[in-house]
Amino acid sequence: MSGTETATSVRYRRFAEVDARGYSPLYDEWCTGVSEDEEVLALLDTLPPARRQPVLFLGAARFAGVPLEGYGAFRAFVVRHWADIRHVMQARTTQTNEAGRCAVLLPSLTAISAEEGRPLALIEVGASAGACLYPDRYAYSYSPGPFLEPDGGSPVPPLACSVAGDVPLPSSLPTVAWRAGIDLNPLDARDDDDVRWLEALVWPEHGFRAERLRAALGVVREDPPLLVRGDLNEQIVPLVRRAPADAVVVVFHSAVLAYLDAGGRRRFHDTMTGLAADRDRPVHWLSHEGYGVLDGVPGAMEKVPGEEDGRFVLQHNGRSVARTGPHGQSIEWL
Ligand SMILES: C[S@@+](CC[C@H](N)C(=O)[O-])C[C@H]1O[C@@H](n2cnc3c(N)ncnc32)[C@H](O)[C@@H]1O
Repeated sequence: MSGTETATSVRYRRFAEVDARGYSPLYDEWCTGVSEDEEVLALLDTLPPARRQPVLFLGAARFAGVPLEGYGAFRAFVVRHWADIRHVMQARTTQTNEAGRCAVLLPSLTAISAEEGRPLALIEVGASAGACLYPDRYAYSYSPGPFLEPDGGSPVPPLACSVAGDVPLPSSLPTVAWRAGIDLNPLDARDDDDVRWLEALVWPEHGFRAERLRAALGVVREDPPLLVRGDLNEQIVPLVRRAPADAVVVVFHSAVLAYLDAGGRRRFHDTMTGLAADRDRPVHWLSHEGYGVLDGVPGAMEKVPGEEDGRFVLQHNGRSVARTGPHGQSIEWL
């Protein structure tokens, strides 16, 4: 082991200190260890930079069965099982699917359906396995605020969301008439390996998120959505055309645009602005992304100096309406 700084060691140290600290003590310890471990860094450096991503490595090690123990056990396992872990890091991408995000989308979804007087046709771009396409099947516990659940209850533990500001909290759940998604690599809630991969992406201390994921994937399995494989910029317009005419179309996305380059984000922004302004069939656009992800896109939320705090921004048709916890755990209306 040594303290030699390479791009990969800096990346892992940064991940430990900025992303994991206070959120996952185990990932903090593992990534601090990796950042100082020449042998493990050399293994990671056999992959192209985009594939050296900490979350991908941690997920792949979990997928391969790494014990949830201290750094010594972690590194021993990684060195022994490197071929398997490397294979997963090449074959898979980070596709965390977090149903909890429905809690911050719900106020806008319910308001849109009520204003338009029609049920919703939901299209999620970057849908992963589609767990966010079922806002009508989950229970919600807003605090302060109402407890909401579908008739007959929900198999998913209530999505808890703390509320600040004048959030237009709904008093009932909207009706969803149709649900569809686009993903470069749609995951299948009926496929054991895909489910195991999604579980491996949940951070080890977040047992409640793992439980929620398993239950939400059960909801998806019972009534699978239409999931289209492909790039969101290529597929969005044809998919909007397939939505039933008697429903109001809402296109939404969460933690997706960071995966696009600047040109891809601009193109998507322009497409969505055009669809939202369509006189014959205006589409509503809900964007739920990290601060600064839309930087440089005209009219989108720019990063405000001093306001970076890990929260996401919720926008409706390009207008910022709320700051949120990235997994849907909080919402502050602007
Ligand atoms: C971090 S996951 C988020 C999944 C889901 N939106 C959620 O909030 O739980 C990002 C997803 O976006 C997908 N994705 C990334 N770039 C994409 C693109 N250009 N077109 C379609 N899907 C994309 C990835 O495959 C992945 O499933």
